[in-house]
Amino acid sequence: MLKLKNISKSYGKGTIKAVDDVSLDIRPGEIFGFLGPNGAGKTTTIKMVVGLLKPDTGTISVNNIDVWEEPLKAKSIISYVPDNPEVYDRLKGIEYLNFIGDMYGIPKEQRQRKLEHYLELFNIKDAVGDLIASYSHGMKQKLVLTSALLNDPKLFILDEPMVGLDPKSSFNLKEIMRNMCNEGKTVFFSTHVLEVAEKLCDRIAIINNGKIIALGTMEELRSHAVERKSLENIFLELTE
Ligand SMILES: Nc1ncnc2c1ncn2[C@@H]1O[C@H](COP(=O)(O)OP(=O)(O)O)[C@@H](O)[C@H]1O
Ligand SMILES: [Mg+2]
Repeated sequence: MLKLKNISKSYGKGTIKAVDDVSLDIRPGEIFGFLGPNGAGKTTTIKMVVGLLKPDTGTISVNNIDVWEEPLKAKSIISYVPDNPEVYDRLKGIEYLNFIGDMYGIPKEQRQRKLEHYLELFNIKDAVGDLIASYSHGMKQKLVLTSALLNDPKLFILDEPMVGLDPKSSFNLKEIMRNMCNEGKTVFFSTHVLEVAEKLCDRIAIINNGKIIALGTMEELRSHAVERKSLENIFLELTE
């Protein structure tokens, strides 16, 4: 579904190697957790997948569509929730949602149905008539989540999605992610909330200093670790 082949990316004219020869093959219908300490290279990797940063080397494809050769085709089946919800402050919530709906060409009926469902679920229905400038961080995040779910993405990519969400919204989001996978869609998300990854993910990759240092199901990761207990033990052991 999502294939990364030998992806590398440096910043500062090659002085900082943020992502170093990463290859991943994410299967359809799986929830894949991308873990790593701060500065490990998670966001850089995700930005390359969604077309915001060009890899120095390597290729990325979604459903066999190269994301850098056919960007619009690839992006039409991807939804992306960035780590920072940067939205247009001078739009009202509903104007932003309709803007995204128009960009993706989402039919009116589908748009209406999805909007009603997710605005209710994330409890921001009463705020969509207000300017985004007046929103809290969490509200912006929920607005971005709603916009990302309007188009029924085949591949849902989220960068640290649980940060800043209240417990109920975080619970709802996990349910959404699970349901999407049950429908055969694919979810790829980064987190450093290890409990979430442990409970939710079919497979996990751990990245450290730009390199993948562990990959597999929880069971597989456990069998390689000295401390065979929690993901926390494995994570700490590997990223030490
Ligand atoms: N725009 C940038 N310019 C220079 N260095 C950067 C930039 N963005 C990230 N980095 C560096 O690249 C490395 C990986 O960062 P990042 O991908 O944001 O990691 P993570 O999301 O795992 O915390 C870090 O060393 C970070 O300081
Ligand atoms: Mg990050």
